[in-house]
Amino acid sequence: MKNLFITFEGIDGCGKSTQAKILHEKLSEIDSTTLLTEEPGGTQGANEIRKLLLRENNFSWSVETEVLLFMAARNDHVEKKIKPALEKGYTVICDRFIDSTLVYQGMRSDLARKLCLSLYHLIGREPNLTFLIDMKPQKALDRALSRKNKEDRFENYGVPFQIKLRDTFLRLAEETPKRIIVIEGDNDKNQIANDVFSHVQKYIINKISN
Ligand SMILES: Nc1ncnc2c1ncn2[C@@H]1O[C@H](COP(=O)(O)OP(=O)(O)OP(=O)(O)O)[C@@H](O)[C@H]1O
Ligand SMILES: [Mg+2]
Repeated sequence: MKNLFITFEGIDGCGKSTQAKILHEKLSEIDSTTLLTEEPGGTQGANEIRKLLLRENNFSWSVETEVLLFMAARNDHVEKKIKPALEKGYTVICDRFIDSTLVYQGMRSDLARKLCLSLYHLIGREPNLTFLIDMKPQKALDRALSRKNKEDRFENYGVPFQIKLRDTFLRLAEETPKRIIVIEGDNDKNQIANDVFSHVQKYIINKISN
C-alpha cells in the first residue's frame, strides 16, 4: 500500500522516537520508499521556527502565538516534505504531529485549540494512522529526564502537567477512534514495536479488501 501517513504521539519520554525509528526500519526492509521525519522541525525553515519555540529564555509567546508558530512550521514541513513524499508513493512516518499541538497548546486555551483545528483543516494532511503511546507519567518523565538536552521547556513542568497531557491525549483518542490507536507504552520496546506493526498490517489489509 502506498501513500500511508503514520504519526506517533504521547507524553514526553513515552517512547515515540524509539518506536518511530523501529517502524521505519521494519517497513524499510519491505519497501525502500519509507520516510521518517519529526516535529517540531522536519525542514530547515521549520527548524528555525523550532529554535524560537523551544530555546531557553524564549520570548514568552502567548499560547495562541505558539500555535501560529507551530502551524507555520508544520505548513513548511507538510508542503516541502510530507506531501511531496506521499505524492511519490512513500510511506511517511512522523514523530509527533498535529495532535501534539492540539494537546500541548489546546489544553491551555480554547482559542488556541480552535486556531489549531481551523488552520489544520486548511493546510494539513490528516494521518491515516496515529499511535498514541500511553504510559504512566512518572515513568515516562524519568525516561525523558535521563536524557540531557537543552530542549526541555515542556518537560520541566513536572508530573502534574504530564498527567493532564496524558488525559488530554486519551480524550482525543476517544474522540478519534478510527485514526488514533492507543498502545501500552510500559511494555518492552520490541513488544510495543510488534503491537504497532500488527496494527499497520491490519490497516493495510482492511484498506486493500475494501
Ligand atoms: N519500551 C521501553 N522500555 C524502556 N525504555 C525505553 C522504552 N522505549 C524507549 N525507552 C527509552 O526511554 C527514553 C525515551 O524514549 P524516546 O526518546 O523514544 O521517547 P520520546 O517519546 O521520543 O521522548 P520525547 O517526548 O522527549 O521526544 C530513551 O532513553 C529510550 O531509549
Ligand atoms: Mg522523541
